[in-house]
Amino acid sequence: MKCRRCRQPAAIEIRRHNAAFCPPCFEHHCIEQVRKAIDEFDMVGAGDRVLVAVSGGKDSLALWDMLVSLGYDADGLYLGLGIGDYSSDSAVYTRAFAEGRGLKLIEVDIPTEFGFDIPGAALVTKRVPCSACGLSKRHLFNQAALEGGYDVVATGHNLDDEAAVLFGNVLRWQTDYLGRQLPVLPAAHGFPRKVKPLVRLGERETAAWCVLRGIDYQVEECPNAVGNKHLGYKEALNAIEDASPGSKHAFYFEFLSKASKHFTPQAEAEQEGLRPCTGCGAPTTDQELCAFCKLVARVARATQAEAATKAGKAGTG
Ligand code: AMP
Ligand code: FES
Ligand code: ZN
Repeated sequence: MKCRRCRQPAAIEIRRHNAAFCPPCFEHHCIEQVRKAIDEFDMVGAGDRVLVAVSGGKDSLALWDMLVSLGYDADGLYLGLGIGDYSSDSAVYTRAFAEGRGLKLIEVDIPTEFGFDIPGAALVTKRVPCSACGLSKRHLFNQAALEGGYDVVATGHNLDDEAAVLFGNVLRWQTDYLGRQLPVLPAAHGFPRKVKPLVRLGERETAAWCVLRGIDYQVEECPNAVGNKHLGYKEALNAIEDASPGSKHAFYFEFLSKASKHFTPQAEAEQEGLRPCTGCGAPTTDQELCAFCKLVARVARATQAEAATKAGKAGTG
């Protein structure tokens, strides 16, 4: 197989583009896909300060690398989630990347700063860990961006992620989520703009990017994700994509161009009536405390109750 761009021997085939590339032309292809997504959806303006949410995995490290290569002013944000070795190893990869390139990395460690970890929050709330995790990420991405004066938060969601989320939302016709499933959410109501510049790249491509660029990344999935629905949807879509290359891209991009607008009014209506959280000032539709402040308070109460029980037992024992 020959490289589509330079006719040298190809190293990677991308069936949905009916193309193959040699290593340098593959890098060019990835950068062009990101540039195209940014332009098409007006993701980042000239002079914008970008905060890249980096997990230490291939997608977000590749994204940070690509944004810097494209000349954007992009700092990183890593959240310590307290998920055992998975979190401590992810932090090591993220710091090594930032230090190796002289980039600024902001770190927020949830256990140190808020007194809980994601597995502990899951026990207290009796819900899956991903629920407290998603809530904390959304809240802390916004907070870090506002505190640091960033215009936009970029995440490493790629085409495989977005197609799988869309598939799950369509299966259950979750119209409220469908209205917000966009590659750009504009800044509004005190929230910074949120963008997903990797929507035109699949995870095979971001992994290959990291290998070619010598980026070491966390290969392990989060232990809480193993066997979850999202991974099942990805596998189902991969089977469809194998049989019919380009299906995933069409599914997601045709949704954006033809269907998403039907769901945005509902999503926008739900943003009405936001008011500042009495704990942290973040915009919320809840009464008084936002969902994150409630979570922090709830875990603190459970921890105090547990300590009191232990002290009582020690006293009587
Ligand atoms: P996930 O929700 O794990 O699928 O991750 C989606 C995106 O959220 C990643 O591509 C990152 O941009 C961001 N992200 C996930 N985990 C973290 C983390 N611990 N710290 C900062 N950003 C993260
Ligand atoms: Fe959030 Fe796994 S990364 S629960
Ligand atoms: Zn709050």
